[in-house]
Amino acid sequence: MADIVDTRTHAAAALERACEALSRGVPVAIPTETVYGLAADATNPLAITRIYEMKGRPRFNPLICHMTDLAMAEKHAVFDPVSRALAQAFWPGPLTLVLPIRPESAIHPLARAGLDTVGIRVPAGFASRLLEAFDRPLAAPSANTSGRISPTTARHVADDFTDKLELVLDGGPATVGLESTILKVEGDTIRLLRPGGLDVAEIERVTGRRVQRNEKAGAAIEAPGMLASHYAPVAPVRLNASDVKPGEVLIRFGGKPLPGEDTAALVLDLSPAGNLAEAAANLFGYMKHADAIGAGSIAFSPIPAIGLGEAINDRLQRAAAPRS
Ligand code: TXA
Ligand code: MG
Repeated sequence: MADIVDTRTHAAAALERACEALSRGVPVAIPTETVYGLAADATNPLAITRIYEMKGRPRFNPLICHMTDLAMAEKHAVFDPVSRALAQAFWPGPLTLVLPIRPESAIHPLARAGLDTVGIRVPAGFASRLLEAFDRPLAAPSANTSGRISPTTARHVADDFTDKLELVLDGGPATVGLESTILKVEGDTIRLLRPGGLDVAEIERVTGRRVQRNEKAGAAIEAPGMLASHYAPVAPVRLNASDVKPGEVLIRFGGKPLPGEDTAALVLDLSPAGNLAEAAANLFGYMKHADAIGAGSIAFSPIPAIGLGEAINDRLQRAAAPRS
């Protein structure tokens, strides 16, 4: 089993042990405000290979590179004015920008899956202290087996990887609970590659520009991680339920009871008060909880598709998609 070190009570030890492992090319699980990441030195090809192996992740799917700040990011990627304004407005935070890589960047092509672009994010909290101490970009996908739900607690990570992982830094439950919003600026257009923990309306408000969503489903996959079936619990998922079948787990929203609740195996409410940020923070943990009690199926009541509800519904659709 992986060692779990609490960053809130043992910050110095956590930094020291993480830097030591990362320097050996060993991936370490780290807390971020979105979800836990499986981090490795982005300049070390062996370390990056270990990430792909541990996750069982297809190698055509590039990793997000985490940086201390915009200054570090500018050394590795070319920023257009709109991307720079986005970075200044939303970093540190749940935003990833896809940008052209600089030829002199030491980020290894394996981390980028050979693309001439790189996904960059500046995380908040303990991850930022670790990046400062390590002083190199960290490639970090979500710390879960490929296709499964992203972890929002250190326990989720340790249970998923068991003895494949040396060290998990525990920063408590992730506050956002959904992966970062991924954007790519193309000329005058801001394109949404993945809805996530940063609300699109907020991006439009700050930039005064419209964010363009992918109109054609099934068009060439732009963020290669966005395969149909993804973020899936073990139990099959039923969406927009208006009632609960006997023995099902119900995950509902807004404190509204559904017919059949009395025969459900378990009833959870993402946010009894109807708060979408709270719902986002609870979503993955609740699906894991349903799996943990051996749910035969999970029914979700409808969740409004506004604000963070867009990203929540995106993840639910992937959780419910046919499995291969
Ligand atoms: O919040 C997050 O983004 C978390 C934390 C750990 O930072 N990370 C995360 O990573 O969700 P991952 O690997 O699970 O998802 C990364 C997504 C994938 O869909 C990948 O295809 C896309 O980012 N991506 C990375 N680099 C890209 C690039 N150069 N071009 C297009 N998409 C890219
Ligand atoms: Mg992931």
